[in-house]
Amino acid sequence: MITGSTNTLGVVIADIENPFFARVLRGVSDAAHAAGFEVILSNTDESAEAERTAIRVLLEKQVDGLLVCPADGEDSSHLSDAVGAGTPVVLLDRRVRGLRVDTVGIDNRAAAREATEHLISRGHRSIGLLTGVDVDAAGPFGADSLVGIERATINTTGERAAGYRDALLAAKLPVRSDLVSTDGFRRQDSASATARMLAGRRPPTALLALDSVLALGALQAIRDLGLSCPEDVSLIGFDEADWTDVMTPPLSVIAQPENEIGSVACGLLLDRIAGRERAPVHRKLPVRYVERSSVAAAPRRVR
Ligand code: RIB
Repeated sequence: MITGSTNTLGVVIADIENPFFARVLRGVSDAAHAAGFEVILSNTDESAEAERTAIRVLLEKQVDGLLVCPADGEDSSHLSDAVGAGTPVVLLDRRVRGLRVDTVGIDNRAAAREATEHLISRGHRSIGLLTGVDVDAAGPFGADSLVGIERATINTTGERAAGYRDALLAAKLPVRSDLVSTDGFRRQDSASATARMLAGRRPPTALLALDSVLALGALQAIRDLGLSCPEDVSLIGFDEADWTDVMTPPLSVIAQPENEIGSVACGLLLDRIAGRERAPVHRKLPVRYVERSSVAAAPRRVR
């Protein structure tokens, strides 16, 4: 039995509605319960201010450790202060520059590059990117070039957008701002962005959605416009939500090991709570590209 003062763990996630976090939490909860710990959950909706409040409240409840999906890549003093005061922190899904703590996630840039390269290999030259970034909240997204985008935002969007750009540039294709959405991370935001792209002068023949909620929004827009996937628009989504293999057509996805992300991060935190000291580890777990039926060859007219 690992002894902590309250045998509780604080968990701070970025979007309580998103299936990715529900699956990560399942991994955390099972690992915590197996070690005799309870979990206290807080949601930030990607708000740095909400995250600081969550950390303050969880520390007031004297949790023994913190698992955090960080919303702020600039000011992580609330997290470094917690570590300095003796409450270990492990980051889920993303890293914070300068914060020397364990992290668990995937290689987002490589995964997005692989997905984009797959679409290019099927003849697609106009590929839309549904990012989930809200340009009002995140400031200039640099959608016209994406240069440096991997440093512009803390969440996985930056790394994934960089992977999308890497693949386009390697294939000598332009990064087009009209094909990069900056509307927000809700389903309706993605539906609006997709409708706008498809109504454009040079519409995309394929889309890469950076999570399952954004992919659902894209499918809603494709249907509402009387188009079909993949005949008119191919689609790949990040994250294997429950619905992705039962819809018509079943969705091709980049599947993350969400449960394992949660259980590995929880194990690292429990080690820290037990007093095991070592240099921070940065675990990048393997992802799977699951080919289903939402990707077809690009229509001949645009090859
Ligand atoms: O919104 C959920 C997505 O963002 C997931 O892909 C996860 O990686 C998080 O960063």
